[in-house]
Amino acid sequence: MHKKLFIPGPVEIAPEILEAMATPMIGHRMKEYAQLHGRVTANLKKLMFTDSRVFLATSSAFGVMEGAVRNLVGKRCANFCNGAFSDKWHDVTRRCGKEADAFKVEWGQPVTPELVDKALSSGKYDAMTLIHNETSTGVMSPLPAIAEVLSRYPDVVSIIDTVSSMSAVKLPVDELGIDCCIFGVQKAFALPPGLAVFTASEKALARAATVEGRGYYFDFLEFAANDDKDNTPSTPCISQIYAMDRQLERFFAEGLENRWARHRSMAEYVRGWVKANGFGLFPDEQYCSQTLTCATNTRGVDLAAVKKLLGDLGYAFDDGYGKIKGKTFRIAHMGDMNLADLREFTASIEECLTRI
Ligand SMILES: Cc1ncc(COP(=O)(O)O)c(C=O)c1O
Repeated sequence: MHKKLFIPGPVEIAPEILEAMATPMIGHRMKEYAQLHGRVTANLKKLMFTDSRVFLATSSAFGVMEGAVRNLVGKRCANFCNGAFSDKWHDVTRRCGKEADAFKVEWGQPVTPELVDKALSSGKYDAMTLIHNETSTGVMSPLPAIAEVLSRYPDVVSIIDTVSSMSAVKLPVDELGIDCCIFGVQKAFALPPGLAVFTASEKALARAATVEGRGYYFDFLEFAANDDKDNTPSTPCISQIYAMDRQLERFFAEGLENRWARHRSMAEYVRGWVKANGFGLFPDEQYCSQTLTCATNTRGVDLAAVKKLLGDLGYAFDDGYGKIKGKTFRIAHMGDMNLADLREFTASIEECLTRI
């Protein structure tokens, strides 16, 4: 039995997306591919409000997250950490042989503009990483206010992960001054995993040109040279790019404003349900994510038992991530979900809670 996914990624995929993935294959050096690639990157630019280059990488998000530090950290990197994925990004930065410092805040808290300012004012850093929406804790950091701070440090290249927020909230990449915006597609974008997207500003490309050890697979300059021909350095996941082409059409058919509003109302509904059912919100309410809710298990419920019962009913439930597993649970409201899906799911959770 297929379990309907309410976990924070991968998420449910629309049947027409799965159909698009079955499009007969083409070669990536054929003109048909260049047409597809050109259309997809042009639509991504519209979605991301950017004139920067947009690249398609055949990998999960962490491939590009690693590639970005290999390309963009020259001197030293400031990694802002407020959860499992941002902690891991610091580890990855060090594993790439880069000088880096972690600026950690407690899980459940956002990265603040004050923290970013304090770190960068030391003058030690020429790059920084930040996860906009920490999927492990359900925290959305205040990106516009952080971007304001970043604008005062023109020598620092900003690398921002929007894996679980891109398309669900407005993220105008150029207005925010993001040099490298990265996302994988299996969360907010609602595509099967395996494709990642990233932007590179002129500043980012100029930095990459000065950095040694960029490797090949994620070399930003290779991506730029191939982008001139609407192509990629190595063979891309063409089936997923067909799926993305279709998904972008669906986004524009829904209307971006409507898409953002749908996510807002789903987030409000789930937060309300959590509180009304005697659970807490793990983050401060003002920093709660728009795409998933991380709830505190204040009722001390056996979440593993709930997960098992929900599984038997045909739902995939998440009982927390990393060091807060069992103490929290996460309900995703991202991608193509709607309020009716969430009402169905929360009613099933309530039913399971009466049975344990
Ligand atoms: C915010 C965020 N960044 C990065 C990742 C890592 O993505 P991937 O496993 O696709 O490399 C995840 C995955 O859950 C995530 O939620």
